[in-house]
Amino acid sequence: MRHERHEWWQTDVVYQIYPRSFKDTTGNGIGDLHGIIDELNYLSETLGVDAIWVSPFYPSPMADFGYDVSDYCDVDPMFGDLATFDRLVARAHEAGLKLIIDFVPSHTSDQHPWFIESRNSRQNRRRDWYVWRNPKADGSPPNNWLSVFGGSAWEWDEGTGQYYLHSFLKQQPDLNWRNPAVEAAMLDNMRFWLDRNVDGFRLDAVLFMLKDPEERDNPPNRDGAQHMHKSLGAYEAQLHMHDQGHEDVHRVFRDIRAVLDEYEPPRMALGELHIFDAGELAKYYGEHLDELSMPANFGLLKVPWTAAEIRGIVDGLEAALPAGAWPNYVLGNHDDQRLTTRLGEHGSRQAAVILLTLRGSPTLYYGDELGMHEAAIPPHRRQDPWSLTVPERGRDGCRTPMQWSPDPAAGFTSAREPWLPVGSDYTVRNVQSQLSDPHSHLNLYRRLLTLRRNSAALRTGSYRPVDPVPSDCFVFERWQGNEQVLVAVNFSADDLSVAVPGRHGRIAVSTQRVKEGTAMDGTLDLQPHEAVVVV
Ligand code: NOJ
Repeated sequence: MRHERHEWWQTDVVYQIYPRSFKDTTGNGIGDLHGIIDELNYLSETLGVDAIWVSPFYPSPMADFGYDVSDYCDVDPMFGDLATFDRLVARAHEAGLKLIIDFVPSHTSDQHPWFIESRNSRQNRRRDWYVWRNPKADGSPPNNWLSVFGGSAWEWDEGTGQYYLHSFLKQQPDLNWRNPAVEAAMLDNMRFWLDRNVDGFRLDAVLFMLKDPEERDNPPNRDGAQHMHKSLGAYEAQLHMHDQGHEDVHRVFRDIRAVLDEYEPPRMALGELHIFDAGELAKYYGEHLDELSMPANFGLLKVPWTAAEIRGIVDGLEAALPAGAWPNYVLGNHDDQRLTTRLGEHGSRQAAVILLTLRGSPTLYYGDELGMHEAAIPPHRRQDPWSLTVPERGRDGCRTPMQWSPDPAAGFTSAREPWLPVGSDYTVRNVQSQLSDPHSHLNLYRRLLTLRRNSAALRTGSYRPVDPVPSDCFVFERWQGNEQVLVAVNFSADDLSVAVPGRHGRIAVSTQRVKEGTAMDGTLDLQPHEAVVVV
């Protein structure tokens, strides 16, 4: 069997940190970079992940909590400074962790000096760095494009008598990537961080970088098809054909990849885009695998949690990806309801097994290793701007402080009030308590991560589904050379028996734990909801 060479980002488990909520070391109720440095040992040793992705920490008015960047080449004082960032990179590398940072290419803050200049006058040298357009004859916006966060995507500027485009908040004006000077400046901003030794980027909202050059109206969404894996409210009234994802974006991705390849070893880009057709998604790796290192794959967030649906996503992607393209799987992040709330306790344990044993790079969201629930946020504590326009879309509940201990404020901060309330499950769902409970979520993740670290089959091996199995089961095999790993997940509430003739082995990890270490010989008996990994 051929042994392909794998890049680090194809074998590593990436852990996403929302820095506001990870660990506060200054006592202001907001997490900071120093807090991440303090917990590197937790990440690399106690938990056992291989890479961290840090959500935005750039100077920002925080209209969208850092996804509105006012300086791409600095650290917001709330989170630390560049010297602390450099220390974070160095310490992470010493601990054997790669470091990926979030980069927001499609829009800046309206307080970014470029936009302040651009807004000054129609003649300003930076006017064309953003998308400014005249109103229609009746004074209305130039087309029907909508903002993801609600309302028109066009904001009227009284001072210069034109509209500007914002695909998200009006405080997040879209950059004009058709202007070569914008592209050059943004690529330089990426080099700034690459020169500081970051290992790659998570690129935010990449499809919004390039739109239809003719800026045609979007057609109505007559059959109500959902655009993403969740409903976006009034935004679903249109088919988003023209306001995002223009094919010219592929050229820009190649340009970005060329910058990443200027470095040795080459750096990576994980692109955030929401495409649910595996064939379409595959295109973003590039015809010659020269675009995004990995497009994020939100497929498992969209489907009902059943054996057939999950297998459908996995097999569909496996069939669609060209040789050399490496899958990614997402089950939680700072935009989506917490995993354990979405899937329940059993589902969230099954998800841990699936996420960490499929062929592909998992991104794991902070706190999901504890099974943290979506927190209930009282109206007066709401922070997310989206919760003001589409309340059911509010993302505060998945952004609450990391739960380190059963102490007040879950050991996250010494402040009386963290920026968001601590989830009410913190007395049980915290690192300290779960470390001493062998049945805990955290210890399940730790066992899975240790197994994965020591298994070439799990890190880089091939994937094949196992048939026939009961319809409520998803069973697959991973193998590399002589090493074989069998994964079986029972989605039903009944005991089930799975026959895998000729397969012998030992249950290395089970969501129910008690069976770990026992042998299997041709048949696997699964308890209700149980997921097992057999080596
Ligand atoms: C996607 C990010 O994940 C989300 O948090 C943000 O609000 C939007 N992009 C806009 O940057």
